[in-house]
Amino acid sequence: MTRERTGPTLADATRGRVLFGGDYNPEQWPEEVWHEDVRLMQAAGVNSVTLGVFSWAKLEPSPGAREFGWLDRLMDLMHDHGIGVVLATPTSSPPPWMGRLHPETLPRDENGQIEWWGSRQHFSHSSDTYRRYAAAITEDLAARYGGHPALTMWHINNEYCTFDWGDEAATTFRDWLRRKYGTLDALNEAWGTAFWGQGHGDWDEVLPPRRAHYMKNPTHVLDFRRFTSDMLLECYVIERDIVRRHTPHIPVTTNFMPMWVGQDAWRWAEEEDVVSVDLYPDPRDPLGAQSGALVQDMTRSQAGGGPWMLMEQAAGPVNWRGVNHPKPRGLNRLWSLQAVARGADAVCYFQWRQSRQGAEKFHSGMIGHAGEQGRTYQEVKRLGAELAAIGGQVAGHRIGADVAVLFDWHSWWAGAQDGRLSSEVDHPQVVRSWHRALWEAHLTTAFAHPEHDLSPYRLVVVPQLYLLTDAAIENLLAYVRGGGTLVSGFLTGIADEDDRVRPGGMDARLRELFGIRTLHEWWPLDAGEDVECDGFRGTLWSEEIEAAADADEIVPYKGGELDGLPAVLRKGRAWYVSTLPEPAELRGLLTRAAADAGVRPVLEGLPDGVEAVRRGELLFVLNHGRDEVTVVVPGTHRDLLTGAEVTDSLILGRYGVAVLQS
Ligand code: GLA
Repeated sequence: MTRERTGPTLADATRGRVLFGGDYNPEQWPEEVWHEDVRLMQAAGVNSVTLGVFSWAKLEPSPGAREFGWLDRLMDLMHDHGIGVVLATPTSSPPPWMGRLHPETLPRDENGQIEWWGSRQHFSHSSDTYRRYAAAITEDLAARYGGHPALTMWHINNEYCTFDWGDEAATTFRDWLRRKYGTLDALNEAWGTAFWGQGHGDWDEVLPPRRAHYMKNPTHVLDFRRFTSDMLLECYVIERDIVRRHTPHIPVTTNFMPMWVGQDAWRWAEEEDVVSVDLYPDPRDPLGAQSGALVQDMTRSQAGGGPWMLMEQAAGPVNWRGVNHPKPRGLNRLWSLQAVARGADAVCYFQWRQSRQGAEKFHSGMIGHAGEQGRTYQEVKRLGAELAAIGGQVAGHRIGADVAVLFDWHSWWAGAQDGRLSSEVDHPQVVRSWHRALWEAHLTTAFAHPEHDLSPYRLVVVPQLYLLTDAAIENLLAYVRGGGTLVSGFLTGIADEDDRVRPGGMDARLRELFGIRTLHEWWPLDAGEDVECDGFRGTLWSEEIEAAADADEIVPYKGGELDGLPAVLRKGRAWYVSTLPEPAELRGLLTRAAADAGVRPVLEGLPDGVEAVRRGELLFVLNHGRDEVTVVVPGTHRDLLTGAEVTDSLILGRYGVAVLQS
């Protein structure tokens, strides 16, 4: 499952720079504005725009018609001004005529309701008609613009995320299941349909998991998630193969939503030349920087540890939260440079010019309603100049990580079903808690799939892997046997790939690894409840575990039902944590495990809220706080942002950043 890179890469588009720009939707504006746009883009150092993301209705106003003139002029305009184009296939927003003439292209939700046109992403991944029209427009775009000198990259569709429970999806679901199971008996066995009398006697009885009276069969739902991810991927691959045939030298991407539940991004990333992501941390979130770092670490890991593309972020507020806060002065710069520190070679936005109409008119743009004099544009301009100044030293460089966090969509899907013991356990939140502990301990972290080669890492952390395949379990055992240190959180190794509980309630090989003799019961905690352990408090979950005689170390629960039983267990280099320790305690535990494994923080003694990342030869230091801080950076360096020489220590003001070269 490790990503092979043979085709073109992001480097073919960046050519030694950091790409800077964003989605450009000029069809919303009269052509005079386009000329104003390129002037302002050039002044801001914009070197890349993404065109055509939502242009299908304009490119194909009636079935089979083509209107390319406006796009010809834009491609030329960009090229004349030295701005590269990431050209999108417009297939995430089919024109209204498609739904009107071909209602079967519209997806249905689990209640059978149609998702009509009038927004976007209203296509059925399983519709032959949709796929045919999408392939045709992609073919014509690739033929027309494949040789255009402005073209730097292909952007397929946009944030693939549409589920479909409709009739055509039912047919492709059955086909997918036939390929997977071969026989109906095998399907019935894998899904455990003996429970509640769900055995299927004919393939036509197998449907998407539509609205039902009570809890649905969890393996059915799990397979439907797998199927949906695969069908959307099939749509991507069809278009990718078309553009690749025309332009084998131009890299291809599609933009992920961060840690989005519907898409097995490990699998998808294997099919991309460039891994890209859209990232919108909440400016008010006190842990916004960490949630950004998490997505950046994950995206870089999906890119095999190499450079990746920040396809979209917001220069100011978004408009889809309950309350949408602007970015305070300096925050856009700080979070953009954080992405570069963590491996981005492209810093782009949704969108260039803020819309005056439509659903996202209150979502910021690089140039906002306030125009050229507005703070947003002025800050964008400053950032563009800085990225141009450091781009040559940064682009292409990799980031080393001794620590990996394991993450798997299939495990998330299986663990998030109805009928589990606690709805308080939110998988992304659990992962965030563990990543936060590593981030606050200044340990540079990668993400990995549980079946990846783990030998590059000294420390592997499993926040929670409810479902583990046999191959993954063997991989973990081999990792520890080979000298690796493994720290695992609760509710790990419970189910096999069909979501069948493993004998003993937790895989026997893992129990042996961690020194667990018997797992008697799970004791989930209520919201706000905690459990006392020796030296810390646990939250969310606890477990009634009996340690094996060969466990090396036990930190017990104190008081209550679990008094004296192990909250934390260690056997050799394998740790098991049966609750979620409070943040400082989890950080302490991982700091200790890391130190035992020989992993050191990027810098010692960093003040709280200061992040440090090494990228190639460069050391990025970022102050996420509003107060001035002094940071010890032994040696003599040059700050590439200011040109100043820095010896042994550095002062960073509110949201300050230094990029040090030694
Ligand atoms: C997503 C989409 C964009 C835009 C932004 C802002 O990332 O890809 O088209 O809608 O969100 O909300």
